[in-house]
Amino acid sequence: MTTPDLETLVCQTRFSDDDLRRLLSLSDENDCNLLYRKAFEQTSKWHGNALFWRGLIEISNICTYDCRYCGLRKSNHRLHRYALSVDEIVDAATCALEAGYGSVVLQGGERTDPKFIGFVSEAVAAIHEKSRRMGFKRGCGITLSFGEQSIETYQRWKDAAGNPDAVRYLLRLETTNPILFRHIHGNGPRKKILAERFLALHDLRTAGYQVGTGVMIGIPGQTVDDLVKDIRTFERMDIDMIGMGPYLVSRQADMVAEGMMPEEPLLRLSRNMIAVTRLVLPKCNIAAATALETLHKSGRALGVLSGCNVMMPNIGPTRVRGDYSLYDRKAVTESEANANVALEKSILQLTGRTVAKNRLGSSLLFRERHRLLPD
Ligand code: 5AD
Repeated sequence: MTTPDLETLVCQTRFSDDDLRRLLSLSDENDCNLLYRKAFEQTSKWHGNALFWRGLIEISNICTYDCRYCGLRKSNHRLHRYALSVDEIVDAATCALEAGYGSVVLQGGERTDPKFIGFVSEAVAAIHEKSRRMGFKRGCGITLSFGEQSIETYQRWKDAAGNPDAVRYLLRLETTNPILFRHIHGNGPRKKILAERFLALHDLRTAGYQVGTGVMIGIPGQTVDDLVKDIRTFERMDIDMIGMGPYLVSRQADMVAEGMMPEEPLLRLSRNMIAVTRLVLPKCNIAAATALETLHKSGRALGVLSGCNVMMPNIGPTRVRGDYSLYDRKAVTESEANANVALEKSILQLTGRTVAKNRLGSSLLFRERHRLLPD
């Protein structure tokens, strides 16, 4: 069989592993731009020209785990730890809804103690009630991202979130290579196991969430074959939402000695991964990760230009932004007054995309699976 030329390849709707390897490995600028243009075009075809925006609230950086790559790891005693109050969380959510973002994301370090579980339930229920008072008939979209929990906890949080058609959970696999997964999660008493991560994603589906996952791109030791397997996993699990960003070293974590990819090829690989994922999974939601912004001042716009259709600007209180330091030079974005307006403007200027105002923004995959109209 002859190898198709690149223009033919990017127009395919089915791809072999060899095709994926070839696309992920593109490095010539014109070739990459061809790939990104096609991914952007597919995004427009399935999702239109408006991006879904969610207000991201980083509710606490207290974490009970010791993931080796992450600056929030428990053993990092240099970090000032914080936890927002329910009122602060609801105020931040209100700002997002007032700005016309019909959906919020609550994210935080991983805890499974009853106090924390109860706290999240309370915050989520309060946001739901507030959004109803603000005119969202069935409540706004709510996405949670608090790591692995029991199925009972997932169910409790889902009930608190009020609108069963717009509750989502983000739980990244980080990598689907079990050896690499074990390496980056360490071998201490609070280690993570890939098989358990898969079970957690399965539980989330059973509990009725829209399920989001993703991986870090460019982890030391990760290969293009690993990325191919990551995409195949998203496909096999019928994942609704994907969040992927470059791996960036954190001096406050435990992987400094392993280095990180140089910035230019890392940005390229990240964009290639986003674009190829878009070609393979045209109907899923793909978020432009904040980590892209560390590699390039318009990193998220470049994400949009390579196939992302979701933006998640940080709208939590500015005083805690610097403490949510997952990796070095994490962009403390959206920190000035009116920053969201400026961000919307720059995204429009750089990508031509607008904001889907007051939309909950469920993924097309989820809506088709549950026969739901656009929300
Ligand atoms: N580089 C890039 N992303 C990171 N995350 C944590 N640490 C890093 C890092 N050093 C990401 C993980 C996690 C999410 C909350 O932040 O993918 O799931």
